[in-house]
Amino acid sequence: MTKILLVDDEAGILNLLKMSLELDGYDVFTAENGYSALTLFQQETPDIAIIDARMPGMDGIELLGKIKSLKPETEVIMITGHGDMDMAVECLRKEASNFLTKPVSEELLSLSIKRSLEKLGLKRKLKKYTKNLEILVREANDELERAYKFRENLIENSPDAIVSVKKGGEIVIFNSAAERLLGYSKETVVGAMNIVNLYPPGVAKQIMKDLRSEDFGGKGVLQKREVEILHKDGRPIPVYISASILYEGSKESGSVGIFTDLTEKKKLEKQLIRSEKLSALGQLSAGIAHEINQPLTGVLTFASLLLKKFRDDEQTRKDLGVIVSETQRIRNIVHGVLDFARETPIKKKPCSINEVIEKTLEIIVHQERFLGIHVTTDLESTLPSVLIDENLMRQVFMNLALNAVDSMKGKGTLTVRTRLMNNLVEVDFCDTGAGISEDIMENIFDPFFSTKTSSEGSGVGLGLSVSYGIVRNHDGEIIVASVPGQGATFTVRIPVRN
Ligand SMILES: Nc1ncnc2c1ncn2[C@@H]1O[C@H](COP(=O)(O)OP(=O)(O)OP(=O)(O)O)[C@@H](O)[C@H]1O
Ligand SMILES: [Mg+2]
Repeated sequence: MTKILLVDDEAGILNLLKMSLELDGYDVFTAENGYSALTLFQQETPDIAIIDARMPGMDGIELLGKIKSLKPETEVIMITGHGDMDMAVECLRKEASNFLTKPVSEELLSLSIKRSLEKLGLKRKLKKYTKNLEILVREANDELERAYKFRENLIENSPDAIVSVKKGGEIVIFNSAAERLLGYSKETVVGAMNIVNLYPPGVAKQIMKDLRSEDFGGKGVLQKREVEILHKDGRPIPVYISASILYEGSKESGSVGIFTDLTEKKKLEKQLIRSEKLSALGQLSAGIAHEINQPLTGVLTFASLLLKKFRDDEQTRKDLGVIVSETQRIRNIVHGVLDFARETPIKKKPCSINEVIEKTLEIIVHQERFLGIHVTTDLESTLPSVLIDENLMRQVFMNLALNAVDSMKGKGTLTVRTRLMNNLVEVDFCDTGAGISEDIMENIFDPFFSTKTSSEGSGVGLGLSVSYGIVRNHDGEIIVASVPGQGATFTVRIPVRN
């Protein structure tokens, strides 16, 4: 039932109006002054208030203001005297809904209440619509946010590095994989760095050029291409890049690139190439080494004979000496190749690595090239024995020791260490020589790669590749670490077997 609050200081009018309204079916509350009206209003929260404007104490206008601030949607009908224009204006300003002039006619009153009720109904409907609209908007927002979060998660958790830039190159997205790949944290890159600085000089420009051309998957697209990007520490990293230009409408707004790390793939490729090279070389050399060996022996024998014959002819002796020494050099190479191509199966038996090392060093340290070189060993006494072909392993250690000595040029220390590490026996050959520069590091295990001139000794370039092959045949590996100018450490790792 609709509740109406009726306020007038004249008790007669109050009762009259109350009766008439109750007859119309309303629930009516009455008050004779502003203060009790306010209390009643708070208790009953009526939908409509009918207030006499002129009352002693708190007048109707003040009461109107208070009611509107308590419950703005309340319909308030003011009762004013005739020609009270100023007051009417004031009431309007305070958002009264309607006026009735004294004496109040019953007809006008019920009409006015009807209008107010209609207004109230509309207001309620509007409120409901607004609320529904708010819910709809909120739901749409939630949905958007979910979609956004989903996309953000997708980017963030991609195993490939994703970097997106605004037009001009400022980085705006840099996901976790990009952080891992390039060594930068998001904070130091997003909004602070230009994509150009992630590439070697000129590369970013070329990529943008290719992106805009038709030739690499269509305009605005760059299909999987191998490039290098720069790690924070300056080191180039091989990656596949796929990229595309981002558009807003028809306007270019930026671009996005996806990078796949190729470091591991490259490493495997290199290993594969190396082992292919080794096996191809093995087959080839096995064939020709035997052929060369025989005539070579002939040349050597006859040159040595001639050398004896012309013992007294100084010049001829010198010339023949060159023939002999050069032929010997060829024979060394052929022997190296034959070792390399060794086709006899390896014979493994349990051995003490420490003993093999000691025996090897014993044989070689008396050579002339060890003059001025200090050799020390630090061998772990409790190593388990390993399954190896002793002769072959001796050859490995000899190669490593000789390389170390060569690098020290008559002055320095060779330290040989052994230890057990994660079920692997590790052997270090650590020298204080020239070290290995970064640019040849990749090549030193390649057959026939050598930096040594013939005056420096053999320098065939087979020592490391032969050793590498042997150790691989023992399911082990050789790794190298070096600080150029300070020396190198070659580490042989062989698995321990029961
Ligand atoms: N300990 C080392 N210190 C510095 N450089 C080294 C060391 N060991 C190897 N190298 C480099 O690796 C190259 C290849 O070594 P490798 O033993 O295969 O061939 P080589 O010693 O030149 O010739 P060969 O061993 O056949 O007589 C060497 O020429 C040298 O440049
Ligand atoms: Mg060598």
